[in-house]
Amino acid sequence: MANIVIVGTQWGDEGKGKIVDLLADVADVVVRFQGGNNAGHTMVVNGEQFISHLVPSGILQKKTCYIGNGVVVDPKVLIDEMEYLLCRGIDISPEKLKISALAHIIMPYHCQMDVARESLKGKNKIGTTGRGIGPCYEDKVSRQGIRLVELIDPELFRERLLAIIDEKNFYLQQYLSSSAVDFQAVLDVFSQYAERLKPHVANISVELHEAIMAGKQLLFEGAQGTHLDIDHGTYPFVTSSNTVAGNACCGSGVGPKHITGVMGIVKAYTTRVGQGPFPSELFDDIGNRIQQKGAEFGATTGRKRRCGWLDMVVLNNAVRLNGLTSLAITKLDVLGGLDTLSICTGYAYKDKILKEFPANLKMLSECRPIYETLPGWSEDISNIRCREELPKNTRNYLSRIEELTQTPIGIISVGPGRDETIVVRHPFSGA
Ligand code: IMP
Repeated sequence: MANIVIVGTQWGDEGKGKIVDLLADVADVVVRFQGGNNAGHTMVVNGEQFISHLVPSGILQKKTCYIGNGVVVDPKVLIDEMEYLLCRGIDISPEKLKISALAHIIMPYHCQMDVARESLKGKNKIGTTGRGIGPCYEDKVSRQGIRLVELIDPELFRERLLAIIDEKNFYLQQYLSSSAVDFQAVLDVFSQYAERLKPHVANISVELHEAIMAGKQLLFEGAQGTHLDIDHGTYPFVTSSNTVAGNACCGSGVGPKHITGVMGIVKAYTTRVGQGPFPSELFDDIGNRIQQKGAEFGATTGRKRRCGWLDMVVLNNAVRLNGLTSLAITKLDVLGGLDTLSICTGYAYKDKILKEFPANLKMLSECRPIYETLPGWSEDISNIRCREELPKNTRNYLSRIEELTQTPIGIISVGPGRDETIVVRHPFSGA
């Protein structure tokens, strides 16, 4: 039996949704373990597009989906998403969708703080999604958070909110010049959310353990990407959770001995939304072309994504940090039609060549990418279903990625649809 973690290797938006949807066909259970509705996973099934922010992408494959304790849950967003899926004929009954009682909830003051702080920072802003993710994780760590287990207990919820609301309102009004949150209004609306979500609240760690003991296969669905990790990313231009594979265990209550593989999702080029360093960023026509052809707009905020060449310093950092056992290359079709392709193989910093990602952001901003150039291809590859049938230059590009990362490619995505995929080696095959 295999239990696989899927993570993004770059700065998010690598196309994890499609790969999770694809692999969920074989998995029995799909688990989200970090992040919140800052994520946006796009899936195209039979030409129909679905975007999910909180519900694991496996829901389309009718698998049991879990939202783990490491996720921060905005109850309104989750309920709206459940309604959206229900309207489109997807089963989101309590048997199919379960939420950890230990997951922290995003409160209205978290969203207000996120937005107000960003505008106060002006040009020094992080470029957050404004969904209250950072402030919610802050409260979790400072032990001022409210979990689902408290939300669904009216007395406890009232107590917790009462204990914290004055401090939140003081900060909102006095420091952020924002408006106060009304205690009674929050209590009223959140008690309705509690009623709606209560049947879905469960002890996820216990249920996942039982699933493992019953020989079921688990798929852990990471959100964002390795370089947005709170510890290992381009701090402070990061999200507020650990996005690396190790957090699949903490964020769901499953022990590390049960993880059998980690697949890293690699977009065939690099993108980033929000602020922060991006050494292989393109500012020319090629960058614009990739942005347009790849429809590189954020699924959550609609912001244009910055685009650049594939960066091996970034990718090898992800290989090590996540212990990747295989790669899935996505959006390979987008690179078609370019005469040449560049791969960044290192950074020139003063008189040195760096192969490791520097922690110092000032140093990183002074790094210049060193490129290796490969010939491109002009053929449309979206109808190809076998690696050997890809054009020679496409195969060379893929082989070079494998060589430089010392990691095998398991999946190649050549279009947004579920079927527009080449499966070289299925991660659940155990091979
Ligand atoms: P936050 O997660 O909303 O606090 O945003 C922090 C940083 O992470 C910003 O640069 C966001 O653009 C980025 N970010 C958060 N979620 C995603 C995602 O799902 N894809 C890509 N970038 C993201």
